[in-house]
Amino acid sequence: MGQRSKWGTNRGFLLAAIGSAVGLGNIWRFPYVAYENGGGAFLLPYFVALLTAGIPILMLEFALGHQREASAPKAFRLIDPKWEWLGWWSVIFVMFGIELYYIVIIGWCANYMVFSAFESWGNDANAFFFDEFLQTSTASEDGSVSAVWNIGTMRWRIVIAVAIVWFVNWTITYRGVQKGIERAVMIMMPVLLAITVLITVWALFLEGAKVGIEHYVTPDFSRITDLKVWIAAYGQIFFSLSLGFGIMIAYSSYLPRDANIFKNSLIVGFSNSFYEVFVGFGVFSILGYMATQQGVGLDEVVTQSLGLAFVAYPTAISTLPFGQLFGVLFFFLLLIAGISSSISIIEAFTSAVMDKFTLSRKKIVTTLCLVGFFGSLLFTTNSGLFWVDIVDHFLNHYGLITVGIIEALIVGWLYRTDQLKSHIVTNLGLSGTRHRLFKYVVLQLWLYSVRFITPVALGIAIVHSLIQEFRTPYEGYPISGILILGVGWVLVTHLFAFGVSGLPWQKTPESES
Ligand code: ALA
Repeated sequence: MGQRSKWGTNRGFLLAAIGSAVGLGNIWRFPYVAYENGGGAFLLPYFVALLTAGIPILMLEFALGHQREASAPKAFRLIDPKWEWLGWWSVIFVMFGIELYYIVIIGWCANYMVFSAFESWGNDANAFFFDEFLQTSTASEDGSVSAVWNIGTMRWRIVIAVAIVWFVNWTITYRGVQKGIERAVMIMMPVLLAITVLITVWALFLEGAKVGIEHYVTPDFSRITDLKVWIAAYGQIFFSLSLGFGIMIAYSSYLPRDANIFKNSLIVGFSNSFYEVFVGFGVFSILGYMATQQGVGLDEVVTQSLGLAFVAYPTAISTLPFGQLFGVLFFFLLLIAGISSSISIIEAFTSAVMDKFTLSRKKIVTTLCLVGFFGSLLFTTNSGLFWVDIVDHFLNHYGLITVGIIEALIVGWLYRTDQLKSHIVTNLGLSGTRHRLFKYVVLQLWLYSVRFITPVALGIAIVHSLIQEFRTPYEGYPISGILILGVGWVLVTHLFAFGVSGLPWQKTPESES
């Protein structure tokens, strides 16, 4: 058996893990989730979700991957062979679900980077995005075919961008952990940080920024009692921290033995949240600026959730001084944030396959990127936007959250958590009273979160979502679309997971302790 890949430095690992966490979710998703869920009022549930589920599950995934030196399927198999499917399911639906549309959105960003230079959207960014760029389908005239199934053709501009984005992903992951991913994030992350600071500070000084920021930070406490807001907070934390993706397990399996799991979890967890809350200031400043320019209320400047980056921003860019430069930088930022996350999804799957089968990284990565490219094409058609919306909703609400619940239950109740706790403490280098204090207070709190708070919170979220689903079909989409694209995607990936976990191991899984 070949040597397991290793990060060159702990900093390389941190940048890769933060790069995975910081992605479109932080810039494209967080502001609209926060916006839809009461702006400032959202921050409280959000931080509760970070502390009670985000960091505990992140620490669990880091500890598990590191202790077992294994990717998700192998790590779960080593707990009990009957849980191997869970690891496979997470890496399969993330790779053949989330990644496929995620890369298409990165492709939209690549296009918009070019559009920004010319302000191609003219004076109607909304019409440009939906009618000209995506050419979003509508229902057939006689109403017999809904817009979701009126697939139309592929949009060549998007296809080209998607091909390039897959190629970049392939180039990085093909070279492996240290020479590929680590080197790439060492360059990408400082650039990402510099651009973020530049454009956020730029936005903060715009006229009307204050109006947007007030909306962002003023808590509307009446929303705090709304269960939906809490569910959105837990969902956002999961997506944003790349939890349940199998990524953090794989990434920590490449750490040296003496790595400090506890410290790493805190750094990654807080950096990611700090980043998205910070970016939120920029986004809301822009919204405030637009509202002020147009003399309308803040609510009127956002057309629809997905359109925040592609409609609201372009509209603002058109009136901003040096708007074109701002636009190019903003979409470039989305592009690198997206790529540093998409490579981690490929790596989680690659690592899982390499653990079980005697296939080389190069073969796996090449096949994955080719299959992935063809899979992404589904989302580049005229109805692609609806597909993105449905698949995103179902995989996040039912995929990631289910993995999170089962993961917490397995590790919290079936695994020798003492072993995992000891593992975390050993690497902290504490001794004497501090060691005991840490072990019996901090780690005890962690264990309570993993055993009780996370499964209960996520359980409520999933039951609530299911009830909503039965009451009103998601976003009013036709039932056929929801069943095939949403439920179907969840179930089919499940079947594949069972199939792969049933295949014999070509490499020996280590002793099952
Ligand atoms: N964690 C990644 C994101 O936030 C997937 O976009």
